[in-house]
Amino acid sequence: MVYNKMEYQLKTDWKDNNMRIRHKPWARPELEASQFFVQDPDAFKGKWREQFAKEQPLYIELGCGKGGFISQAAYLNPNVNFLAIDIKFEMLGLARRNVSKVFEEHNAEPKNVLLTAHNIERIDLMLDENDKTERIYINFCNPWPRPKHKKRRLTHTRQLTNYRKFLVDGGEIHFKTDDDELFAESLVYFKECGFEIKYITYDLHNSGYEPNIVTEHEKMFSDEGIKIKFLIAQKTVLPQKPEQDPQG
Ligand SMILES: C[S@@+](CC[C@H](N)C(=O)[O-])C[C@H]1O[C@@H](n2cnc3c(N)ncnc32)[C@H](O)[C@@H]1O
Repeated sequence: MVYNKMEYQLKTDWKDNNMRIRHKPWARPELEASQFFVQDPDAFKGKWREQFAKEQPLYIELGCGKGGFISQAAYLNPNVNFLAIDIKFEMLGLARRNVSKVFEEHNAEPKNVLLTAHNIERIDLMLDENDKTERIYINFCNPWPRPKHKKRRLTHTRQLTNYRKFLVDGGEIHFKTDDDELFAESLVYFKECGFEIKYITYDLHNSGYEPNIVTEHEKMFSDEGIKIKFLIAQKTVLPQKPEQDPQG
């Protein structure tokens, strides 16, 4: 599908408007009563690994939406701890219900998953270098196509610089999107921030890559015939800047 700039803008605005979610009065009370919702994430900065029942690798999903991904990922990987973050309580309310449903269906307890509300653009307030994270998932983040908004992209260098602080050396970011421009520009952001691209496909569903958990947006876009772009970026150690000679 090829769009000119104006059509593309209209399409994107349309998508953004349709992603707006109706107020759900039940979402907050249900979250506040939940064992696996964290109400004050900033209070756990540097201590996230201790908040789970077992000490095991920590994977974080940024912009978890309705929780289709995190519910499956957490259930299928009991040896990993998952922290899912979204800015909207409505989304997190649905995610909470989704996680409960998947675990209840299998008579299991969601001990390896936590949900919390935070603006990822201020993630430095809730995570630091002590929250050693092995993997970050970014699934279908908003493309923010207008130049003045690009800094808000969850893959923008401004955000990647923050993620580097809590992602371990060799840790990975798994990034999926429907959006060609976001994908191409994110490749540049990753390289600029010291990430090496370990895997890349422009057609995930025909790539043979496994395992893949299909998210809500992934299903919506692939049903429209849009190919899903996916990459794994690995954090490399940045060369040390030479120290300044105080005399010179
Ligand atoms: C397009 S949806 C994708 C949802 C899900 N990951 C999927 O693949 O279906 C983007 C999600 O990111 C969340 N989001 C967008 N900007 C955010 C930010 N700055 N901080 C936290 N969450 C954000 C939105 O509330 C929304 O749930």
